[in-house]
Parts: sequence; C-alpha cells; structure tokens
Amino acid sequence: MSDNKNFHMTPDDFRKYGRAVVDWIADYYERIESFPVLSQVKPGQTRGLLPSEPPALGEAFESILKDVDNLIIPGVTHWQSPNFFAFFPANASGPAILGELLSAGLGIQGMLWSTSPACTELETHVLDWLVDMLGLPTKFKSDAAGGGVIQDSASSASLCALLAARERATEYGSNQQGCNGRLVAYASTQTHSSVEKAVKIAGLGSQNLRLIRVDDSFALRPDDLVKQIKQDRQDGLIPCFVCATVGTTSSNAMDPLPEIGRICREESLWLHVDGAMSGTAALCPEYRYMHDGMELADSYCFNPHKWMFTNFDCDCFYVADREILIKTLSVLPEYLRNKATESGAVIDYRDWHIPLGRRFRSLKLWFVIRYYGVEGLRYHIRRHVELAQNFARWIGEADRFELVAPAPLNLVCFRHLGGDTFNQQLLDRLNQSGNIYLTHTTLNNKYVLRFCVGQTHTEERHVYQAWRQIQETAVELEKR
Ligand SMILES: Cc1ncc(COP(=O)(O)O)c(C=O)c1O
Repeated sequence: MSDNKNFHMTPDDFRKYGRAVVDWIADYYERIESFPVLSQVKPGQTRGLLPSEPPALGEAFESILKDVDNLIIPGVTHWQSPNFFAFFPANASGPAILGELLSAGLGIQGMLWSTSPACTELETHVLDWLVDMLGLPTKFKSDAAGGGVIQDSASSASLCALLAARERATEYGSNQQGCNGRLVAYASTQTHSSVEKAVKIAGLGSQNLRLIRVDDSFALRPDDLVKQIKQDRQDGLIPCFVCATVGTTSSNAMDPLPEIGRICREESLWLHVDGAMSGTAALCPEYRYMHDGMELADSYCFNPHKWMFTNFDCDCFYVADREILIKTLSVLPEYLRNKATESGAVIDYRDWHIPLGRRFRSLKLWFVIRYYGVEGLRYHIRRHVELAQNFARWIGEADRFELVAPAPLNLVCFRHLGGDTFNQQLLDRLNQSGNIYLTHTTLNNKYVLRFCVGQTHTEERHVYQAWRQIQETAVELEKR
C-alpha cells in the first residue's frame, strides 16, 4: 500500500466546500420563510429516501450537499424560522454558528485545563461576565466560593444540582452506599419534567419527588411546601432538594424565590433555580425582579441556547459552593493525573458535569456576547417581549379568545372559547398550514395554546400575520 494514499479532504477542497456550506447556510436563512415551519413528512419518509447500504466509495462533496436539499430539508422543522412560535425557542445567530464552526475546526476536547487551557479559561471568564450581565449574586463567580460551567442542557444542570444536594445531605454517603429510599426532593406541579428524570437517575426514586401545588398564577405555593417538608420529616424521610423555576415551561410562571429560599435555608435544603428560557430576560434590568431571592439559591441555570442567540447546546450552570459539586462528581484515575491539576491552580471542568469529555462551547457564547454587546442583546430581548405583549393585548381584546395565564415576558397562553376539541383542531390546522408553528399545554385541565416569541428574526409582521391567521382559521372552524 502506498504511503501517500489517503481519502482525506485537502485544505484547498476544505476552503472550497467550506465556502459552499457557509453560502448554503446564508441562502437557507434567506429562503427560510418559504418552507413549512413544521416538517410535513410522514414517519419513515426520510429513511425511505436513504440508500439501505452505506457507500463503499467516497462521493463528491457537491452531491452530498445537494442531498441535504433533496433528502434532509423536507424532514426538517425550521426552528430558526421567524414563524416558529412553538415550545420555547432554540434560537441561533450568525456569530454563534461561526463560533460553533470554529470549535469544530479546532476539535479540542477540554476535559482538563491542561488539555486546552483556553477552553477552560475562556469558559470561566465568560461565565463570570454573565453573572454581571444578568445581575446574579457574585457568589456564583469563580473568584468567590462558587463558579459557573457550561452544560449541554438544563436537564443535566438539574441532575448535577440534585446529585450535589444528595451528597451534601448524606455527607457524601450516597456516593459510597447508594440511596436508601429516604431522600426527598420538591418541585411544583409545573416544574419541567427534567427534574423528575433527574430524580430517577440520581436514585432518589420518582415516588420521592413531591410535586407541590401552585397558586392561581401557576407559581409554587410556599405554604404547601412547608407543610409537605414537615410531613416528610415526621415520616422519617430526609428532605434534601427543592427546584424552583423562573419561567415555567407551560406558562412562564415565576416561583417566589424569596419565600422558597427562606424555607430552604431554615430546613437546610439545596435550592436549585431553573431559569432555562426566561433567565436571559435578566440581561435587561427591568426584568431582574424575577431573580429576587436568588442570593438564597445554591445553584442556578439558564440556557443561552434557548433565547440568547447561541445555537444548541449551551446551558450555563452556577453553583454557590463549587467544592460540593466537585467532591460529588470527581473521580481521578491515574491516566488523567497531571501537574496542573496537582498544583491546585486550575479548574478541571470534567469534575463539574456528567461526561468526561467536553466541547469548546464557550467560543460561540463569547462570539455572541462580543458581536452583539450587552446593549444589542438587550435590544432584541426587549423587542421579543414587546411583540409578545402586543399579541397578548390582541388576545385580551378579542371576543372569542381568552388569556389563560399571566404573560410576564415572551410567552402567551391563550385559548378560543370554543372548548378543548375546538382548540385542538385550531392548532392542527394552523400547524398543517406550514405558515406558523405553535404548541399546546394544559392548564387547570384545559387545552391551551402557547405562543412564544423568541426566534432571532421574528419581527412585528410575523406576529401580526400569525394573529391574523389564528383569527381566520378560527372563523373557518366556527362555520363548520
Ligand atoms: C423550565 C425548563 N427547564 C428545563 C428545560 C429542559 O431544557 P434542556 O433541553 O436544556 O434540558 C426546559 C425546556 O424547555 C424548560 O422549559
């Protein structure tokens, strides 16, 4: 076999095709409104278009890229469409995408400080910046006892928080002996399902998760929390963890952090605050009220990959006391030992999350923050909130629609007065039209439509068109 033979892409071809891919992405954004927002393919349709065997011989890059248009795009739901109002957003931006590309290009794996010092130090630095940008307590900064780390998701952040809480409550005994079925965690009936998943994974058992009732605005009721903790202690159980949410998934409810925090302090419970989407709003001082009480939290997370123009995945997770997290997760095999770690002068983020390996995610976050600047980010967040508030006003003024929950920021929960089946049909028709995409939830046992404004390029005309289409579709359905 000749030593010179290889199948790799040459640097010249990489330049050529790299430009083609960047052009493709720029074109995609220019024509994104021409696609149905929700993919219209049937189950199995995408696979049915793919060859059953992998290619034995490499193919021309041009033909691979062409197949993205032909085979892949029909099966894509366009999360970056300005007409995407579903779930919570997972928005993106030019600087984030380019930062991601650079991260892939560098291809580093930053499990230890020494495996790429810049990966660790940029992450620490940017997460410290974000503490100031969001007005978070300074205890979350790396020069205090705490610190921040990028996780893949809010789900992982909640799991890490719960594991640390479990170990603090059992003096690191659960790590050694496993859980004994007596540890109890608390959240509200509106808390994201990732907390239930975390409770299962962490070995507490889902029967030891208490879902506390909520008030009329769907926020956790502190009085019920106190009662439940008392009951559990009387029953010989060990309360250890509370998850409060600023901006619940169903309705964007804000749990009362000051009261919950006070209870957690009195009862020595770990308080984790989940601000997955709404946390980004704290870039604007006028929305920081939702973080009142955060000084009582042991950990906090929010997702720049939801609303801060940083493409998936990027969750910022902060702890007030990093030693607890590190002691919970650290395992040091011989093959990872190195002088920098032993010096004690560096952070090794492998000890701050579940996987060992880690990508250079802070690069895209750094690009976003530098490209937009704090003022640029604030401008777009305020604009999204304003657009959502306009939408809420239109709903409030319409005869046949009602608002179903307070809309503090960019999510509006509403329904047509025609009942559950009518609203279901309305949603199906809207989504099948391909013009817009929204999703639903249930609140007080009623089927509710959710309209969330958070896609990077959503403007007034998109929200206005969406509202017109919702009204017209409702009128058509009313006539049937
Ligand atoms: C409040 C809240 N927490 C957690 C999550 C889970 O987010 P992730 O996909 O980052 O795990 C979501 C997702 O929408 C959410 O709304």
